[in-house]
Amino acid sequence: MCGIVGYIGHREAYPVLIKGLHRLEYRGYDSAGVALINGDLRIYKIAGKVSELEKETEGKNTHGTCGIGHTRWATHGEPNTRNAHPHVSESKNLAIIHNGIIENYAPLKTELKKRGHAFLSDTDTEVLIHLIEDIQLNEKVDLVEAVRIALNQVIGAYAIVIVSKDEPDMLIAARKSSPMVVGIGEGEYFVASDASPLIEYTRNVVYLNDEEIAIVRRDKGLEIITIHNETITPYLQELQMQLDMIEKGGYDHYMLKEIYEQPNSIMDSMRGRLIGSRNTIVLGGIKEYEKKLTNAKRMIIIGCGTSWHAGLVGEYLFEDIARIPTEVEYASEFRYRNPVINEDDIVIAISQSGETADTLAAVELAKTKGATIFGICNVVGSSIPRATHAGSYTHAGPEIGVASTKAFTAQVTVLTLMALAIGRKRGTITESKYQSIAIELSKIPEKVQEVLKSNAHIRQIAEEYAHVQNFLYLGRGYNFPVALEGALKLKEISYIHAEGYPAAEMKHGPIALIDENMPVVVMATNMSAHDKIVSNIQEIRARKGRIIAIISENDEVIEEMAEHVIRIPDTEESLTPLLSVIPLQLLAYHIAVILGRNVDQPRNLAKSVTVE
Ligand code: F6R
Repeated sequence: MCGIVGYIGHREAYPVLIKGLHRLEYRGYDSAGVALINGDLRIYKIAGKVSELEKETEGKNTHGTCGIGHTRWATHGEPNTRNAHPHVSESKNLAIIHNGIIENYAPLKTELKKRGHAFLSDTDTEVLIHLIEDIQLNEKVDLVEAVRIALNQVIGAYAIVIVSKDEPDMLIAARKSSPMVVGIGEGEYFVASDASPLIEYTRNVVYLNDEEIAIVRRDKGLEIITIHNETITPYLQELQMQLDMIEKGGYDHYMLKEIYEQPNSIMDSMRGRLIGSRNTIVLGGIKEYEKKLTNAKRMIIIGCGTSWHAGLVGEYLFEDIARIPTEVEYASEFRYRNPVINEDDIVIAISQSGETADTLAAVELAKTKGATIFGICNVVGSSIPRATHAGSYTHAGPEIGVASTKAFTAQVTVLTLMALAIGRKRGTITESKYQSIAIELSKIPEKVQEVLKSNAHIRQIAEEYAHVQNFLYLGRGYNFPVALEGALKLKEISYIHAEGYPAAEMKHGPIALIDENMPVVVMATNMSAHDKIVSNIQEIRARKGRIIAIISENDEVIEEMAEHVIRIPDTEESLTPLLSVIPLQLLAYHIAVILGRNVDQPRNLAKSVTVE
């Protein structure tokens, strides 16, 4: 989960690389570096963010029309300057940037040391570039062939880009389980972890597949081979991303912009999918699997973090509306525990990035067991949608803030559409209930807009609680996953310890934590268990806990009991998460801002977790 970018063409490479690295910084920000070819090979790198790298290069020679850049999320070796990429070969003629993990780096390093190689860093990446040069010299092959041979020897994940001082007109890129896109401009070429660094230069892109090597030559353009030496015809695609989608657009942070985008992003997730006066649901990506879905004996939803929370909402939806038994699994557990999967099972993999290593591995495992696998992903062309049998994109647009917000509501929207479509086909939902949920769903964007009007009020609440040490989030039914999501949002961006619990579980342990210092966020919207949640609130009050309640617009009962209330519009119970999560996103955001945290790039995290 590092960000990598490369350029070769007629422009100065350095400004292209730096701008690209800023855009890729969501992928990691422990250290940054560039390598530039201009007669010689010059490397600048430093611990810290891309802005530190810019300071480091001030007044220095950054000329050259070929170069590579990297922003790191540390795996092997501390996040210091020594371990920052690019790394060089023994002769210092070759430089490499890498996103991924070379799992067998230790035996390779031992062998190379025996052969006289000296290493300057603790990284797995440096071993790979030494190996490539060792092969080049000892087997007397050209650089491309040396890369190909080396990649046959490594185990693990990689997206790499290599430049050579002796071959200033060539970049070599390759991928396995880490993303890589090649941009093709007019006499210039770009390679990057995603399309954001190349968006203003070209709309023509080629997404590399696993085990492919792209050889980009200044005069001859792009050639692709596999690591098994087969020639591949590049599949050119037109980029759909627009520049304004990846800019802050006047907001202080990407996270706030993305929270505010939700009326539109939810609408985009539904666009063209809920149609006509009968509210017919058309999910083009999974149409040919309609029968399989309708006859599914079981749904298994896999994901990580926020996507897993969306999966939990999916469990309530599929069981409630479509009456299909549903299990939700952490992808990281699923992949290692020999799960029982039958041919009638549908596995749904949920992932914003489409690159999460655990989710991707879980998909591969489920495939080997014969399940039909659907993807619900946001990033078009990413690895998970390519590994699944079918799926639906969420169409939420690029999510850049590390804390996921609009991706969650988009995932829940797609899950709702799926549950409704299947429920109607199976006859497990009455037509009038179907219509009332579908009509309500189409009103959700304007209701989200309503919830966003509470922003100033939520900011005031945040000021009162920003300096506490702990938070509890409680919810029942559809609001239980939202409680988990609210707690995750708070801990990841404010670094305040927070726990989400099913409200009724409180009395089995967490109630011991409640005293006058403990804020408890209670999801108490109009729902089937409203009376029960009122009882839970009384239990908290009796122990002097401080209640922040998310309530429905006309609720007057809870207003009397809670220290603070945040109102959300009434809706169908099954759609509540799409509204009740918004105040929790805003609460976490404001607390983090008040505490001076780096909201968009919280410590130790990265947007796309392409390592285990
Ligand atoms: C939380 C967050 C993470 C991701 C998780 C899965 O705000 O962003 O928990 O949800 O890393 O990522 P994707 O959805 O890309 O698979």
